[in-house]
Amino acid sequence: SRPFIVAIDGPAGAGKSTVSKLLARRLGFALVDTGAIYRCVALMAQREGIAFDDDAQLEALLGRIHIHFQVVGEENHVLLDGQDVSSEIRAPEVSMNASQVSSRPVVRTGLLALQRRLALEAEKGAILEGRDIGTVVFPDADAKFFLEASSEIRARRRYEELFQKGVERSLEDVLADQVQRDRDDSTRAVAPLKAAEDAVRLDSSVLPLSEVVHQLEHEIQQRL
Ligand code: C5P
Repeated sequence: SRPFIVAIDGPAGAGKSTVSKLLARRLGFALVDTGAIYRCVALMAQREGIAFDDDAQLEALLGRIHIHFQVVGEENHVLLDGQDVSSEIRAPEVSMNASQVSSRPVVRTGLLALQRRLALEAEKGAILEGRDIGTVVFPDADAKFFLEASSEIRARRRYEELFQKGVERSLEDVLADQVQRDRDDSTRAVAPLKAAEDAVRLDSSVLPLSEVVHQLEHEIQQRL
């Protein structure tokens, strides 16, 4: 039988990463950060000078890409061709470019098998965080969640995250980028950011993330 599949979707800065990481650790589940996969594609395209709307080149790139996740201490690291790109893929430029490449159907389709394989390789269960996990990647997930928060709170979280990594950007810039990225992600033709009908929705503007983790864990335990 397959591992227990948990889908966590929502916009940027809703707390998905923090919540998924804590939940994965508590449950002993694997964690698949699908945003990191799109970020790796964007980084590779950037490095190779491939235009973000060049479908033929993007498809060829996907045939060469090697992505692995590795837990180091408390952190989930991303390896692209064996190189740790965990910090590099968080740069604001890569965020915007990831949003661009992720709107190409050829990229989304090309990454489906990889996302599913990384999850199905897990022993006990897997948590996938992204935008279209509950709707497209695993429509039959065992538990689906959609995390939301006000755009101000989401921008503040992202701002603090970047600040801790030594990236100094104004809160206004972070908010503007985020509004743009949310709009692009929600209005694209293929697999837009959208809650699955059967997803449990939580607003992390009114709940501390520790409480969100608690509620998700409770829901999952009931279905395990
Ligand atoms: O979650 P994160 O901010 O790292 O995702 C980066 C970008 O990748 C998003 O803005 C979105 O455009 C894209 N993405 C996606 N589908 C997913 C995960 C991420 O389109 N499942």
